[in-house]
Amino acid sequence: MELCVVNQPIQEVPTDAVIVSLFEGVTVPTGATAAVDQALGGAIHQMIAAGDFRGRKNETAVLYTLGRLPARKVVLVGLGKAEDLDAERIRQAAAAGVRKAHETGAQTVATAVHGAGAGQVEARAAAQACAEGIVLGLYEYEGFKSRREEQRPPVSRVVLAETDAQRLAAVEDGAQRGRILAEATNFARTLANHPGNKLTPTDMAEAALEMAREFGLQCRVLERADMERLGMGALLGVAKGSHQPPKLIVLEYQGAPGDRDILALVGKGLTFDSGGIDLKPGEHMEEMKYDMAGGAAVLGAMRAIAQLRPAVNVIGLVPATENMPGGGAQKPGDVVKACNGKTIEIISTDAEGRLILADAVAYACNLGATRLVDVATLTGACIVALGHLATGLVSNNQPWAEEIQRAAAATGERVWQLPVWEEYKNQYKSDVADLKNTGGRAAGTIVGGMIIGEFVGDTPWAHLDIAGTAWEVSDVPYQPNKAATGVMVRTLAQLALNLAQGRAESGAAGRAPR
Ligand code: BES
Ligand code: ZN
Ligand code: MN
Repeated sequence: MELCVVNQPIQEVPTDAVIVSLFEGVTVPTGATAAVDQALGGAIHQMIAAGDFRGRKNETAVLYTLGRLPARKVVLVGLGKAEDLDAERIRQAAAAGVRKAHETGAQTVATAVHGAGAGQVEARAAAQACAEGIVLGLYEYEGFKSRREEQRPPVSRVVLAETDAQRLAAVEDGAQRGRILAEATNFARTLANHPGNKLTPTDMAEAALEMAREFGLQCRVLERADMERLGMGALLGVAKGSHQPPKLIVLEYQGAPGDRDILALVGKGLTFDSGGIDLKPGEHMEEMKYDMAGGAAVLGAMRAIAQLRPAVNVIGLVPATENMPGGGAQKPGDVVKACNGKTIEIISTDAEGRLILADAVAYACNLGATRLVDVATLTGACIVALGHLATGLVSNNQPWAEEIQRAAAATGERVWQLPVWEEYKNQYKSDVADLKNTGGRAAGTIVGGMIIGEFVGDTPWAHLDIAGTAWEVSDVPYQPNKAATGVMVRTLAQLALNLAQGRAESGAAGRAPR
């Protein structure tokens, strides 16, 4: 899809549909909406006066232009109350508007930069949120149906119309950034949506290599023999029950050569989680094809970082494997040793995410990581705690946790921090090894996270549990329902951008938080 910015009044852009927005409670439209209303002879004003359009969040209406505009249709989208306007409202409204235009068969669309004139959100940020909403909102996973169901043609071109020439550069810049972030998110969504037989660890490694080639990143893939040499017994233990060979994907981005700081993004790449010998129940087991969504988020974030080029060094690691109950599978009671020498007693073979991440984060530290974030569909307990509305956050370092929250707040991806109290460690003490891989039902998300944290030493680390947010989110117009969301791609990329910004502001090499 083509996305561009023009310096032209929206009512003059020749497209199939034009999209303008309205705040709730406004009776006299302003800006682009007023210009379109005028061209329509006051039709929008009349709709509002008649109570047929209220401007509620993501409310849409379609008007026919009857030749008064070059466009055949006008889509009106509600922004909610003016005082509640923020980037997330704009992102959602942009998605709702463009999806409505798509539904009515429009292939080319012109849209106002919603909310840019209201003052609370800068033009650049508004344009970015708009572009994100559009590109995310129009995403569709192709799937494997042999006959495509009757469908509207895809939207091939979206034009952001900005009349204020002074704002044009900011709008262009914001739109470009928004598009990069949303396309990276869609890339992650597609990987996560692939069924387990279409995206094995080998396929995931190939996807990473191809992406790295396209966007100019270094990429290498550690094979089983490399893992054996490095002593990655925790990752290898999980892979034992599968015929698919495990892979450890390592991506490198050098945005600040000579700087000793390295941000490591580590994502769980479990391409299918059957539970292993502790086999999961059959109901909903198919959803475990999404168990590599954290890994996909890391690949997506690295893709965006490669394009946005922040002045920081970032490495991305994705341990990829299946968790299967084959004859060679590891068993409850087995003891494995991770590459940092720590031993783990396997209590549940279904608590495999923390095992593969243990080796991956320890390896990231060996590669020189000075700050870490891991992203994983780690625990069902996180869905119990936070539902599908927020990602769980567990960290060993409060300033670093707040840095993650700052990035998440900027992208509208909700993150909620959980406590890390010393006493929780008692839950995962083992009689025969340094620790065990589960700590019972209590505080499952915290304990799962803390077990990963045992493998980073003192390095500032944060763990993002996306079990509830990686798929199955409804009522957000830019999120597909019952499919992968690509959550955390934008937040991880934002984190790298913020670190680069902080580095620039401190005038020298960025300092790791203490
Ligand atoms: N991938 C699952 C977690 C999960 C479950 C994500 C449901 C999304 C939806 C993970 O590997 C797992 O099985 N976790 C166990 C941990 C337990 C055995 C300590 C869980 O949550 O039950
Ligand atoms: Zn899992
Ligand atoms: Mn599991």
